[in-house]
Amino acid sequence: MPKRVLSGVKPSAEMMHLGNWFGAVRQFVELQETEQNYIFIADFHALTTVHNARQLRANSREIATEYLAMGLDPRRTVLWRQSDVPEVCELAWLLSCVTGKGLLERAHGYKAALAEGREVSMGLFCYPILMAADILAYDADLVPVGEDQVQHIEMTRDMAEYFNHTFGEVLRLPEARLAKGFLRVPGIDGQKMSKSYGNTLGLFEDEKTLRKKIMSIVTSSTPMGQPLDPETCTVFALHSLFPGEDLEVLRARYLAGEIGYGEAKKLLVPKVLEAATPATSSRFWPTGRGGRDWWRGPPWTAAGWPRASPMRSETEAWGPSRRSWGSRRRWATAATSSISRLSPGPWNCCCR
Ligand code: TRP
Repeated sequence: MPKRVLSGVKPSAEMMHLGNWFGAVRQFVELQETEQNYIFIADFHALTTVHNARQLRANSREIATEYLAMGLDPRRTVLWRQSDVPEVCELAWLLSCVTGKGLLERAHGYKAALAEGREVSMGLFCYPILMAADILAYDADLVPVGEDQVQHIEMTRDMAEYFNHTFGEVLRLPEARLAKGFLRVPGIDGQKMSKSYGNTLGLFEDEKTLRKKIMSIVTSSTPMGQPLDPETCTVFALHSLFPGEDLEVLRARYLAGEIGYGEAKKLLVPKVLEAATPATSSRFWPTGRGGRDWWRGPPWTAAGWPRASPMRSETEAWGPSRRSWGSRRRWATAATSSISRLSPGPWNCCCR
């Protein structure tokens, strides 16, 4: 049985970099072969930091486009925008009514904001509740996440248990799927590749920029002709993202002292350029920003609206045992109308 795998992507301003691709996105593209793949653009979550609607919309489109261009297939993946399904906010409210404030006070994100003296909005404080609702609303089995999100999945399970305990067994407890396929991709300074460290190699950057960045990768000062250690070398770690015969030859040359860092860096440039190949041949990749017709509408719509809507996708993509719209909101029924189970009569006609 395919599992339902769900993940949300916050539309932050960056374009996809090697860390995003090898660390997460490639895995989503692979999962669509075997599992029920659910991916959404978490624009409501981004509202905790972005307060510019135009920018948010542009970022959301950009991310959706890049995902589609890199091989996420809208016939096999349900792709949508979080804010298009307001029922999730309804579930978030119900979860908040059975969740103690203490649980949220333990959240890493909230604690970090406090420690840095940042202003904490209720949105930031309640971020884990909305995320739990995202996951629980769609009956996800698995949530592929990086280390930093594991706590959120644990909290999701806690909230689902509080809810089920209070209102009946309605919500499915999800599991985090950690690390498998999540490579640690180093940035050009050797730290984890991340926009916040300014050390990224963009998947769609032009050759000149990439070459310059790659040539600036920090390496040890071992002189030419001496053996180099592939295990501690950032350049080699980046080569390792592209396994194959080449890589083994390179490893041997490192150990034999037959290559210098300059050459190793030069060999890396075409590999990085090639990582974006799927996009260059994709019909989802606009020739220029704003260039193509479909670009006028949101990409998740261009991708095929029926499947872009999670509500409808259930009836179209996954076989006959479909739940209707009404029963999707079973959490609301469980929380507010369970009396209809006890008393026949007028309750039944409007509330079930
Ligand atoms: N919090 C996640 C992040 O910052 C984004 C996200 C929102 C998410 N809702 C989700 C991830 C649901 C997985 C499942 O990366």
